Amino acid sequence: MPTLADPARPFKQQAGEHAAGLVQSGMVVGLGTGSTAIFATREIAARLQAGDLRDIVAIATSRATDAAARALGIPMLTDDIPREIDLTIDGADEVDPAMDLIKGGGGALLREKIVAEASRRNVIVVDAGKLSPRLGTHWPLPVEVLEFGWRSQARFLESLGAAVTPRPSDGGLFRTDQGNLILDCRFKPIDDPLGLAGELEARAGLVEHGLFIGIASDLIVAGEDGIRHLRRGQEVATR
Ligand code: A5P
Repeated sequence: MPTLADPARPFKQQAGEHAAGLVQSGMVVGLGTGSTAIFATREIAARLQAGDLRDIVAIATSRATDAAARALGIPMLTDDIPREIDLTIDGADEVDPAMDLIKGGGGALLREKIVAEASRRNVIVVDAGKLSPRLGTHWPLPVEVLEFGWRSQARFLESLGAAVTPRPSDGGLFRTDQGNLILDCRFKPIDDPLGLAGELEARAGLVEHGLFIGIASDLIVAGEDGIRHLRRGQEVATR
């Protein structure tokens, strides 16, 4: 069945391909998940094929990305991440002016955070529609929970002010790569992301949340005005 074209697709492609240009030979590279990060993965594979890149090895942030990268011929590291990652390129659902993020629209937030925390540099690639004055304005916060007791986690999240929806899939509930559930939490604009992150991290059975605070080192934004590359605190290039 034909699907509606994503109007942001060309910008996602520009951002992803621009970020792939930051990868250098010899690097260990983290490959993100989603419709923007896949353009970076494809471009890295194309650069390898062309001989422009050598001796890289990658780790994926989801099973889907791992399968795509292997199919493209990118050499992959084992899942135990035996080496420090030099550079990870990943997408985001919402980005605030402090370069803090909501991630997990694809349900890969746990592996994405593990890979990001194991990386020296995290490059986030987005189309301009992802920019937001405050996290939670446009996108619910995904929270990964164990199936055991998940309704108690939903009540806890509601007590923090969220409208909670268990993420559906094929007539049932969506399962993450770990077999857990995702609760999508509409908080409306989040006043204190760091404080909320702390409350979520203190709760047993709540596996991970999609607030990525202080993790992005670079942001590549593509939109009608071209491509902007910001590093924490400074803009480094425009086109
Ligand atoms: C995957 O779980 C997410 O964190 C994605 O990186 C995020 O949802 C962005 O996805 P798109 O690039 O498809 O919008």
